[in-house]
Amino acid sequence: MRYITFALAKGRLAKKTLSYLEQIGITCEEMKDPDTRKLIFVNEELKLRFFLAKAGDVPTYVEYGAADIGVVGADTILEEQRDNIYEVLDLGFGKCRMCVCGPASAKEILTKNEIIRVASKYPNIATNYFKNKKNQTVEIVKLNGSVELAPIVNLSDVIVDIVETGTTLKENGLEVLEEICPLSCRMVVNKVSFKMEQDRILKIVKDLKALLYEN
Ligand code: PRP
Repeated sequence: MRYITFALAKGRLAKKTLSYLEQIGITCEEMKDPDTRKLIFVNEELKLRFFLAKAGDVPTYVEYGAADIGVVGADTILEEQRDNIYEVLDLGFGKCRMCVCGPASAKEILTKNEIIRVASKYPNIATNYFKNKKNQTVEIVKLNGSVELAPIVNLSDVIVDIVETGTTLKENGLEVLEEICPLSCRMVVNKVSFKMEQDRILKIVKDLKALLYEN
């Protein structure tokens, strides 16, 4: 039996995913050691391997087949636009929204056909939304975090970013101006892996689905 390899987006999503996997009998004791510097963890009995990666890299590992299965937010999947992967399951947690946000005063410029400046960690999602959905010409400024700063210091008119509780926006005098799409944690599978290991992969998907949606 060959190993099936999971790439999990580091942080909260990985923790939650591992706890759900544990509930369907997929454990990885090695991964529980908080002091470990190991990068890859193995469950020999089930012939499974796990590694943690930066969210943005998870679709890449899966596209190339370096991981058979990836678990990552829909925001990353949409932004990375990778080939050779199937999205097989919405895990239903990590729920948030991709939105256009800014000061209330920016609402008006979104209705006119003016060229506006949009700051985002998600340049592809932002470009796609303004070009294809709104038919509005925009200049995208790529940032790597704390994107809410951009309209405050006049780097941009609006931002495209994730809104979860809305606290960051509120505390900085910003608001949701338009909603682009809902987001949550997703499971993706390499297309070739899916063909080669269909039974084992479908069993994992089926067990997770039953755990998440049939209780
Ligand atoms: C995310 C996102 C928002 C914030 C939204 O940032 O980019 O800034 O969370 O959450 P809220 O609606 O609950 O306030 P993250 O914490 O990942 O850090 P970053 O801004 O450095 O990307």
